[in-house]
Amino acid sequence: MALLTAKTDEQLLEELLPEAERLINRHFGVQKEWFPHEFIPWTEAAKLDENGNCPESENVDEATRSALFVNLLTEDNLPYYYNDVNRMFGTSDTWQYWTRRWTAEEGRHSIVIRDYITVKGLIDPKELERARMAQVEGGETPHPAGVRDGFAYLAIQELATRISHHNTGKRLPDKEGQALMRRVAIDENLHYLFYRDLASAALEENPSATVEAIDRQITNFQMPGTGIKDFVKHSKKIAKAGIYNFAIHSENIVKPLVFGHWKIDKLTDLTDAAKAAQEHVIKFSEKISKIGQRLFPKSESEPALAESI
Ligand SMILES: [Fe+2]
Ligand SMILES: [Fe+2]
Repeated sequence: MALLTAKTDEQLLEELLPEAERLINRHFGVQKEWFPHEFIPWTEAAKLDENGNCPESENVDEATRSALFVNLLTEDNLPYYYNDVNRMFGTSDTWQYWTRRWTAEEGRHSIVIRDYITVKGLIDPKELERARMAQVEGGETPHPAGVRDGFAYLAIQELATRISHHNTGKRLPDKEGQALMRRVAIDENLHYLFYRDLASAALEENPSATVEAIDRQITNFQMPGTGIKDFVKHSKKIAKAGIYNFAIHSENIVKPLVFGHWKIDKLTDLTDAAKAAQEHVIKFSEKISKIGQRLFPKSESEPALAESI
């Protein structure tokens, strides 16, 4: 079989237009309108003290507050994700429409999580605002090299975000908090499905070029929140509490994507470079699974949200 020459990003986006249209229509078939203010327990608003600081909240443990802090600041960095997605997806109507729609949906996440944190008095609002300013001023985000890398990165990142929001919500003591984090996780799940299936279409179009991109993104993946103040300190608490850690990343993100959905191990007729990438990503996935099990043997697996639509 003749091996294909990889298309340019512009040619690939043109080729995948019908698939993008199908996925946008599918998205609208399941996405429901929702309003951030309806998820907030306004009547329970925490009183600030005379210095404008919030009182220490006793009901939510430190790891859960770390997760809310990191999750919210990650959502706050939306201007930079928009910038990247807009740059990657170009100017044709369909891709532009998705970029704008996705941005609007993402914008709700920081609104609802911030309102909840403020009303419940879970994090000092001044600390949170200073961290937001630093995060957005820093503008630190991963920059996938091209469209194939972008699809793979976004699929991994949306799934990681879904799991992180969902697991954070499960630890909140009130049903309003649980419901709103679940609602945000449902959005992330739909975004994940969109990008995962675009990566699948790109794999079908050119398995060699796409497996190389998937290898790069799986083996170098970083959550978009790495520029957040005290990120390492918060990440350690989040990992120890089983909200998001190496084992969850390996078992609930890498394995289902690499072996379950993209079936990287089953690809044939690859170029030499792609065969090397295939082998590399498979070995990496197996290796991090072993490390994850050793470091976090009791990590729970993520209860399934609707994975397929
Ligand atoms: Fe989000
Ligand atoms: Fe998302």
